[in-house]
Amino acid sequence: MVEKLLEIKNLKQYFNEGKENEVRAVDDISFDIYKGETLGLVGESGCGKSTTGRTIIRLYDATEGKVIYDGVNVHDKKSKKDLKIFNRKMQMIFQDPYASLNPRMKVLDIIAEGLDIHGLVKNQTERKARVIQLLETVGLNKEHAERYPHEFSGGQRQRLGIARALAVEPEFIIADEPISALDVSIQAQVVNLLKELQEEKGLTYLFIAHDLSMVKYISDRIGVMYFGKLVELAPAEELYLNPLHPYTQSLLSAIPLPDPNYERTRVRKSYDPSVHNYADGEEIAMREVTPGHFVFCSEKEFKELKAISQSRV
Ligand SMILES: Nc1ncnc2c1ncn2[C@@H]1O[C@H](COP(=O)(O)OP(=O)(O)O)[C@@H](O)[C@H]1O
Ligand SMILES: [Mg+2]
Repeated sequence: MVEKLLEIKNLKQYFNEGKENEVRAVDDISFDIYKGETLGLVGESGCGKSTTGRTIIRLYDATEGKVIYDGVNVHDKKSKKDLKIFNRKMQMIFQDPYASLNPRMKVLDIIAEGLDIHGLVKNQTERKARVIQLLETVGLNKEHAERYPHEFSGGQRQRLGIARALAVEPEFIIADEPISALDVSIQAQVVNLLKELQEEKGLTYLFIAHDLSMVKYISDRIGVMYFGKLVELAPAEELYLNPLHPYTQSLLSAIPLPDPNYERTRVRKSYDPSVHNYADGEEIAMREVTPGHFVFCSEKEFKELKAISQSRV
């Protein structure tokens, strides 16, 4: 049984709304996030992934739309008291752990910040013990508590970012390209740590990435974004085997494989939005082509995609 933890409904985030330089960073997207799952969100740089994450977690007020967490719209100004609880339940891990860790603060104080804000420890002894426990949870140790961020490697800093997020015992973590800035050799370690923590603590993740290679490994379902729109959403395996939107097909064709025969024949498909040739007023929407597999398309495309999917079975 799948239970919804979050429902994102018609979310819009426009910067400089109504002005000449208006950017529709997130333009009317809707999707659910299930309890305990990892939902991958991919798309090229600038398509609105970070803005989606930041709006969900309320770093930005939404221009329009709802983010319903456990039945409560977190963008509803009336539920102020509830909102403090959501600050704990939802945490974010960033791409550049160095930029998000205060260089003048000791690791002890960086990680304890959330504990202090939410009054989760009674005294200094308990505070330190909790920080050490968190450091150990992410594969660091108590000696690290007295050091400063610059004394750590990139992978270790991301571990600090994870420990800081875990401090307040969240249910939901948005990981915004958490491994993009790391050496390839370190990336798998951090992804594995995130997976282990998920199993241990029953966490739910929104995992943002700009390409599809690592996302497949960590995600249960994957959403593909293109210019502020969600264009495809499907179970991870299904998306790889049967990508239906031409933009998803282009993203997949960009992934190199370690097979030299495949590489010799790999054709990088590019996506040309004019292929859709939509008529004026034609309704383009997320439509469910096969169970759980949604594509942003017209009614006409929907019928064609359905026919293609049926012929595959
Ligand atoms: N604070 C901001 N003010 C104005 N424009 C922004 C702001 N943040 C992001 N944008 C713009 O919104 C679009 C989406 O950005 P972003 O969400 O960062 O994309 P991604 O994370 O997919 O690379 C881009 O065109 C970006 O320039
Ligand atoms: Mg981003």
